Amino acid sequence: MFNATSRYHEAVQLIRSCTQHQPAIGLVLGSGLGGLANELKQADFIPYEDIPNCPRSTVHGHYGRLVIGTLEGQTVIAQQGRVHFYEGYDMQQVTFLVRVMGLLGVKVLILTNAAGGIDPNYKVGDLMLLNDHINLPGMAGHHPLIGPNDESLGERFVGMSQAYDYELRALAHQVAQANNLPLHEGVYAAVSGPSFETPAEVRFLRAIGANAVGMSTVHEVLVARHMRLRVMAISGITNVAIDQVDSDNDASHEEVLEAGALLVPRLTTLLRGVLQAIG
Ligand code: HPA
Repeated sequence: MFNATSRYHEAVQLIRSCTQHQPAIGLVLGSGLGGLANELKQADFIPYEDIPNCPRSTVHGHYGRLVIGTLEGQTVIAQQGRVHFYEGYDMQQVTFLVRVMGLLGVKVLILTNAAGGIDPNYKVGDLMLLNDHINLPGMAGHHPLIGPNDESLGERFVGMSQAYDYELRALAHQVAQANNLPLHEGVYAAVSGPSFETPAEVRFLRAIGANAVGMSTVHEVLVARHMRLRVMAISGITNVAIDQVDSDNDASHEEVLEAGALLVPRLTTLLRGVLQAIG
């Protein structure tokens, strides 16, 4: 039988041959948020195209390489750019590098994403710590854990009521407070994209309890939890989702990338602080 797990191991082998570092913490840096990976010390860089079986990022604003090095005393492996379902990859491909990170020995996964603000209190440039999610593609059958379950990776049925690690969230709030950085906490709704939401969809997402919306992250969280990694995830609010028709504005990828410039320094402060405090 075709063994999907061997595809991950081929990638692990290549990565081990390219670096002496043994990362314990994984970082996934979203749209326009990749800058932090450039701050890793003693860094090794591995383009996705050099990694066997690894899908390539096709979206402007995503670099498409692994950066492995040290930051705030931690050995870190960062995905500088991710791939998305809307690029035409399946959910196993979308989550490929999270599997690989887990098999490399990563214990904590920190994910970032660009998201639209659904909560009327959210402004462009705000940060939101995820404490839960609504996985709309997953509920409709696009779920990375569908298919034969490899028990060597994790168990068949994964509990999700503690997906976003309580202690890591507490740590993030401490760091935010110490640095005078406002930090919301809320629910992230995942959609497939690539179109942005209609105003009716925005009102629907608000009604079902979402505070922010985006096109990534939850699939990666599912795979990370399947492998029992501890997870923290942060949304950078890049635009306020439009909830009325005939508004003068429309969401755009340019707007998302522009807000990244505002978000990167805040996110960098928060993530450096969390890495320092994780111990
Ligand atoms: N919707 C979905 N994904 C997004 C958005 C949005 O408004 N902004 C950034 N990513």
